[in-house]
Amino acid sequence: MSEIETLKQWIDESDNIVFFGGAGVSTESGIPDFRSVDGLYNQKYKYPPEVMVSHTFLTQHTEEFYDFYKEKLAAPVLNAKPNVAHYKLAEWEKQGKLKAVITQNIDGFHQLAGSKEVLELHGTVMKNYCEKCGKRYTVEDVIKADGVPKCSCGGRIRPDVVLYEEGLDMDIMERAVRYIQKADVLIIGGTSLVVYPAAGLIRYYTGNKLVLVNLSETSQDRYADLVIHEKIGEVFSKL
Ligand code: APR
Repeated sequence: MSEIETLKQWIDESDNIVFFGGAGVSTESGIPDFRSVDGLYNQKYKYPPEVMVSHTFLTQHTEEFYDFYKEKLAAPVLNAKPNVAHYKLAEWEKQGKLKAVITQNIDGFHQLAGSKEVLELHGTVMKNYCEKCGKRYTVEDVIKADGVPKCSCGGRIRPDVVLYEEGLDMDIMERAVRYIQKADVLIIGGTSLVVYPAAGLIRYYTGNKLVLVNLSETSQDRYADLVIHEKIGEVFSKL
């Protein structure tokens, strides 16, 4: 039986699937990932991009932080939309087969595609708040602001995105661990699994149906029960 037929059988037979994903889920929507050859981190910048999306950079190079963030992380989301991978996951949730999507992505596409239980480990560009008074703003407010986005109270507006050096939301992490611990089928897709603590979550899986759908090889391939090195949108469209 081919890998896709095996995956189809596992999905057809399960009512407890959990998905763990990354930037590779949104590349077929036209949003570059980070570490592929054409990814964000391989484009030429004055500083290493992982330095630019850090808390230190936000505080010490605020103008440059927002230029990079608006152009490279927020704006691309507004010009793109979910793809078949997002819609399939939402469909499986509706059918009672998939329990949760755990994502490292900040584009909000899983919710846009109809997924309800989405755990955003690294936050989302869709939520923005004033650091001083807490007032909420939209991603459009941040993008259209001239330079550093400012609140009506004068405070700085920041995206609810986890930057390097910042901690993840422990409540979300605990919920993610519980879903993964209980999962019958864990499908990991579109992630290089190199950023912790997110990547460490898959260690909690105790089942025997660990699926990896990723264009490139990852350090976890050897532990997977099923590995498919193809585009996740194309694979899911066959299921
Ligand atoms: N289908 C399947 N896999 C794909 C596709 C696709 N269409 N497109 C890209 N990929 C794979 C790439 O081969 C790569 O292994 O997805 C993976 C994306 O890896 P990264 O670019 O490292 O993205 P991600 O794993 O989400 O990065 C994790 O790094 O900078 C931080 O916070 C950022 O959340 C991000 C984290």
